[in-house]
Amino acid sequence: MTTRTDVTAIYGPVAGDLPRVDQMLTSLQHVEFPWLRSMLEATLTGGGKRLRPAIALLAGRLGDYDLDKLVPLAASVELLHTATLIHDDVIDAAQERRGKPTAAALFNNASSVMLGDYMFAHAAEFVARTGNIRVIRNFADTLRVMANGELTQDMSAYEYSADVQRYLDRIYGKTASLFATAAEGGAIVTGAPEEFVAPMRSFGEHLGMAFQIVDDILDFSATSEELGKPAGSDLLSGTLTLPTLLYMERYPDDNPVRRAFDGTRRRANLARAIDEIRDSDILEESMKTAERFALHARDALERIPSGDPRTTLDGLVDYVLSRRS
Ligand code: IPE
Ligand code: IPE
Ligand code: MG
Ligand code: MG
Repeated sequence: MTTRTDVTAIYGPVAGDLPRVDQMLTSLQHVEFPWLRSMLEATLTGGGKRLRPAIALLAGRLGDYDLDKLVPLAASVELLHTATLIHDDVIDAAQERRGKPTAAALFNNASSVMLGDYMFAHAAEFVARTGNIRVIRNFADTLRVMANGELTQDMSAYEYSADVQRYLDRIYGKTASLFATAAEGGAIVTGAPEEFVAPMRSFGEHLGMAFQIVDDILDFSATSEELGKPAGSDLLSGTLTLPTLLYMERYPDDNPVRRAFDGTRRRANLARAIDEIRDSDILEESMKTAERFALHARDALERIPSGDPRTTLDGLVDYVLSRRS
């Protein structure tokens, strides 16, 4: 599994400021109640790539780079992300994340849900510290859109009528909306010129779409060791992502996914579908979709001045397309 140090190099001018975001996150662990403290320790430290806070800080370079506003924003975004992952792992009954046991595995489901809620509350408090009503409103909107994205995904599990457009709407909600808010928020809180705010939002949104598509491809192509969790889990848990949707489009009348969802030899049929997807050109075709979103992210960067942060943000696009974990 990739450790945070591997990606620090790609965060360029803001890499040195990310420890301040981590400090703000770990400050949450200073609570009296030992049970809550141990849950926070287990979930806040180590493993995450800190991609969203890095984007918020980089966007902040377009304005007056004030860490007193940017650090709470970046910590808020990362905390929101962490809370959604904790909830996601409860929904998926996932045992492993970042190569470690999930909260859902360590504690019971009810406690894990409350832990996520506790983090949401703190994320809201952090974003309020920016004192910027526009950013606070974006945060509230994003929370709603993300919950909607996760709910829709959960409700449409094992539904073989799902199509690519609905998939794209769903991943906008659960992933790209937070990338968009991170990028836009960084520009807003630092008072960047208004003409850079929309391009940053567009950059974050399109990068986030590419990021989730690549994540969904990696669920098929990467090893469990690279992923820090079992490979192939999306389809095995009934989640239809882009590679599976393209596979089903290719064999609309009869395919192992359909048979599995209809209740025939579920595990064996899904395992077969996973093998067939891995051995076909479907993952490359899916990658083309990710590349199209990446291209839009780069287009958005054309609308901000050259130099840093633009070079570093451009490097993040390459990173998102080439990452293995
Ligand atoms: C995982 O996000 C969830 C997705 C949106 C695919 P990351 O891959 O950014 O998670 P961490 O924080 O680095 O573990
Ligand atoms: C991202 O999707 C989850 C959220 C945005 C909450 P995934 O379900 O693909 O994330 P992983 O693969 O479990 O990290
Ligand atoms: Mg998941
Ligand atoms: Mg995934």
